[in-house]
Amino acid sequence: MVVCIKKPKGKVETDMAGCEWIKESNWITPIFDADDGAVEFVRSFTLDKKAASAVLTVTAIGVYDAYINGKRIGDFILAPGCTAYNKRLQYQTYDITNMLAGENTLAITVGKGWHRSRMSENRGEINKKPCAVIAGLKIAYADGTSKVIRTDESWQARKTGILFNDIWDGETCDATLESFELEPVRIEELDRNILIPQEGEPVREQEVLYPAGLIITPKGEKVLDFGQELTGYVQFCVNAKKGDRVVLSCAEVLDRDGNFYNANYRSAKSRITYICRDGEQAFKPRFTFYGFRYILVDEYPAQVDPDKFRAVAVYSDMKRTGFIRTSDTKLNRLFSNTLWSQRDNFLDIPTDCPQRDERMGWTGDAQVFAKTACYNYDVKRFFGKWLADVRAEQREDGSVPDTVPNFWNISRSSTAWGDVINVIAWRLYRMYGDRGDLEANFDAMKRWVDYMTKDSLDKYLWTCKDDSDKMWRKHYGDWLALDAPSGSYRGSTEDNFIASAFYAYSTALLVKAGKALGKDMSVYEELYKNIAGTFKERFKELKTQTEHVLALYFHLTDDKAGAAASLDKMIKENGNRLQTGFVGTPYLLYALSENGYVDTAYDLLLQEEYPSWLYEVNHGATTIWEHWDGIKEDGSFWSVDMNSYNHYAYGSVMDWLYSVSGGIRPDGAGFDGVIIEPHPTKRIEWLEAEYDSAKGRIVSKWTNTDEGVRYEIQTPVTAKIILNGRERAVGAGRYEFTVKI
Ligand code: BGC
Repeated sequence: MVVCIKKPKGKVETDMAGCEWIKESNWITPIFDADDGAVEFVRSFTLDKKAASAVLTVTAIGVYDAYINGKRIGDFILAPGCTAYNKRLQYQTYDITNMLAGENTLAITVGKGWHRSRMSENRGEINKKPCAVIAGLKIAYADGTSKVIRTDESWQARKTGILFNDIWDGETCDATLESFELEPVRIEELDRNILIPQEGEPVREQEVLYPAGLIITPKGEKVLDFGQELTGYVQFCVNAKKGDRVVLSCAEVLDRDGNFYNANYRSAKSRITYICRDGEQAFKPRFTFYGFRYILVDEYPAQVDPDKFRAVAVYSDMKRTGFIRTSDTKLNRLFSNTLWSQRDNFLDIPTDCPQRDERMGWTGDAQVFAKTACYNYDVKRFFGKWLADVRAEQREDGSVPDTVPNFWNISRSSTAWGDVINVIAWRLYRMYGDRGDLEANFDAMKRWVDYMTKDSLDKYLWTCKDDSDKMWRKHYGDWLALDAPSGSYRGSTEDNFIASAFYAYSTALLVKAGKALGKDMSVYEELYKNIAGTFKERFKELKTQTEHVLALYFHLTDDKAGAAASLDKMIKENGNRLQTGFVGTPYLLYALSENGYVDTAYDLLLQEEYPSWLYEVNHGATTIWEHWDGIKEDGSFWSVDMNSYNHYAYGSVMDWLYSVSGGIRPDGAGFDGVIIEPHPTKRIEWLEAEYDSAKGRIVSKWTNTDEGVRYEIQTPVTAKIILNGRERAVGAGRYEFTVKI
């Protein structure tokens, strides 16, 4: 069994305004080559009078942690976080007044982080920068005088026992190497204009998991099972002799024979090597993270005792706002898997996956999952910061790179990926009601729409010439859909269909955003009408499931009844099974339930045969898989090269549970009002959805009873309650209804 402990939070100040004075400090770098190791920058100083306040601001090229007099400052992990470093680099601010003594030593250790790790090698302007730190410590004395200790040539630097660190590849620490000579530092002319105060949620250690047990595999490997896939690292204790080694590798799954398997991490080594000193000691990595459930204990100088190991979950410090509970344990597990995949992939930026050699801010994945993410957690600040990075990476012509930060220097801009600003900015406004989110993004939304307009071969569509014979096409299509031609990752839905549908959708969102901001949007309203009209003309025949879904959900068909009936028929003929990929899946259940086929939506949701959400649950998933067939019926794997077990995209089904099954959705922007329109099913005894809005907790529960369906609703804001298509009540408070069927 896995026991999760909520770690008590340490104090870290990240919202202190007015710390721009960090820009008056200098970037300093060691005179020696940092290579792959971590470097410690040190400055000692004496205080001859009592400090009334002491504020440290700091950031680095890489990731850092800071200590004063041997005590950790704050609890931010992997500070300064991940941003579009060429334009934006966050600094953090810490109140360290109570940590000062007469004689003080400030030590800031810098690892490679996202900035200098292998993952950003394609982006020389970022990756080739030296290991560097910039900091300022502002001390105000009780007598009104003050002083600032800035990074300059009075600092020194030394190598550390962390001989190797890399986000993808792990960490090597030699604890036998205790004292390194302090050497001078050099002032380096690096950009200071890119420095910005902390914008995102701080990244923290959030939960500690105990191993569920030790497995001796058929091959004789010693593998710790934490019972849950998570992102973070393992900490351990060991009683050792100087020079003994602990070597750990990680995996998400075991192979069909129960042996350790991590080929799906591809080139990411995620290996921890620790060289022990004498005696009892503890270790955890400081400058890497990895997604894992299983830990292979390759080397350990004693009997492997699971009690000496802990897994630490590390993610952005978001407030949980959404809860789904049902009488169906498998559905509950699916919900838990979605929450875990969100936590595991919300480590400062929204990533595709936390384990293989990607961990990239793939825009399409974030776009697809954003609505669910907003119900599960308060992600206003998390996405607000990341959208600023998306805007920073948006190109002159309005195109949006497929990953942000664009560490791989990708020059393409795919439909459904590049729509990320339009989709998420609008979603934030709907959920949190802050016009600021629209104001910040409006221009970028417009530039994206204008880009599509200019880039198209045909007027009022987004079309491109056929590049389907190419491995790397312009668009990703209905990524990983099951109607893909053999050997392809892309489903059968035509790229031009998807691109034109999203062109319409993003234009519609732009119009809504502009109107919410009080702008004249007539030009884009006209554009939208033309796109919708041209689309309906051009794409009369709907072929794939995803084509039906997009036409229905984006209102791009005049024959909704016919399209919905045809989609329903396709699903039934396919044995109540879906075929959709990244593009179609998020809207699949909506396309059905909004058009009279709620039962078919539930058939898909509750399907247990492959392919389905519960198939994964039945096959032991503890997070959401990238592929519907990540593990096949016979226990074999889909593939090695593209097979993550922690990809949140298909977890996007959860927002349907909140907003249709439980029926909680904002009425207008920001839950000033709420529409509660639950859609029960006989196939589940009861379901309860809760959403902790800024205005208070909204609860919607339905239970199947002998008398009919009993609804229990609680709302702090004016609610329009709609049951069985009939409006029942308008108001705030607690309501109970039993509706006979
Ligand atoms: C990622 C995806 C991403 C895709 C683009 C993959 O390698 O893991 O989630 O969206 O590339 O098609």
